[in-house]
Amino acid sequence: MAFRNLTTADRAAVRTITVNRPDKLNALNQETIAELTLAFRQAAQDDAVRVVVLAGAGEKAFVAGADISEMTAWAPVRAQAASRAGQDLMLAVERLGKPVIAKVQGYALGGGMELAMACHIRVASEKAKFGQPEIGLGLIPGFGGTQRLTRLAGRGAALELCLLGQQIDAARAERLGIVARVVSAEDLDATVDAMADQLAAAAPLALKGILEAVIEGGECAIDQGLAFETQGFAIAFSTDDMREGTSAFLERRKASFKGS
Ligand code: COA
Repeated sequence: MAFRNLTTADRAAVRTITVNRPDKLNALNQETIAELTLAFRQAAQDDAVRVVVLAGAGEKAFVAGADISEMTAWAPVRAQAASRAGQDLMLAVERLGKPVIAKVQGYALGGGMELAMACHIRVASEKAKFGQPEIGLGLIPGFGGTQRLTRLAGRGAALELCLLGQQIDAARAERLGIVARVVSAEDLDATVDAMADQLAAAAPLALKGILEAVIEGGECAIDQGLAFETQGFAIAFSTDDMREGTSAFLERRKASFKGS
């Protein structure tokens, strides 16, 4: 299906989904949110896709937030539906079952920061800026920001960023644990491509097990989280890829993982 607000491109097992509204700094209007949700569902169902890279078109913004122009006339019940639709998108990203890398070259504000935080690894250009500026609009984050920022960076940083609404640069985002790696603007594509290639060559079912144990297991009390981990560990022993990985190590050769 052709999207009006996104582009998708496949490079071997790596699918890049790009929000493509650069004249609006890739702001997430309702149509874009619906298209992104569909694009992630398609990526989940396509066995040929092992990794997703999420990007924003243009040089200026990853995503500069939810589309403010749509919000002004919303009644509370409409705002509730929009918040849920945004949160559903973030869950579709976070629970894809395959690694998702956010490639952040510019502004990741509001819903853009929330979208980046739903991804599993964030790689940023040193020009990137992060923030939850909703307070300046008389609003609060509505796409999961209060929850994921608290989990990623802790309550102190989440309260500081959401209450003051200021932008932070990529270096501070890295210090807070929001960003995995900060590179020069020139190196961003190559860094993300190399990371995506490494993930595409890894054992998909083991990647899925790690994602489930960390994300879903991480929401439980430790006994349940550990049970999640044990289940994933045991399931790995049912896979051809586990036999291939261990044999390849002992035979001093490179493993070739098939996803079975
Ligand atoms: N929603 C709707 N439109 C947005 C937008 C958003 N979140 N962010 C940017 N845009 C639009 C602008 O309205 C402008 O459109 P126009 O050219 O038709 O007037 C275009 O994108 C370019 O933005 P502009 O503000 O002119 O760029 P800038 O370089 O001066 O400022 C930002 C960049 C990111 C600082 C500024 O756009 C901004 O503060 N955006 C809103 C961020 C925000 O509050 N996000 C949370 C929303 S809940």
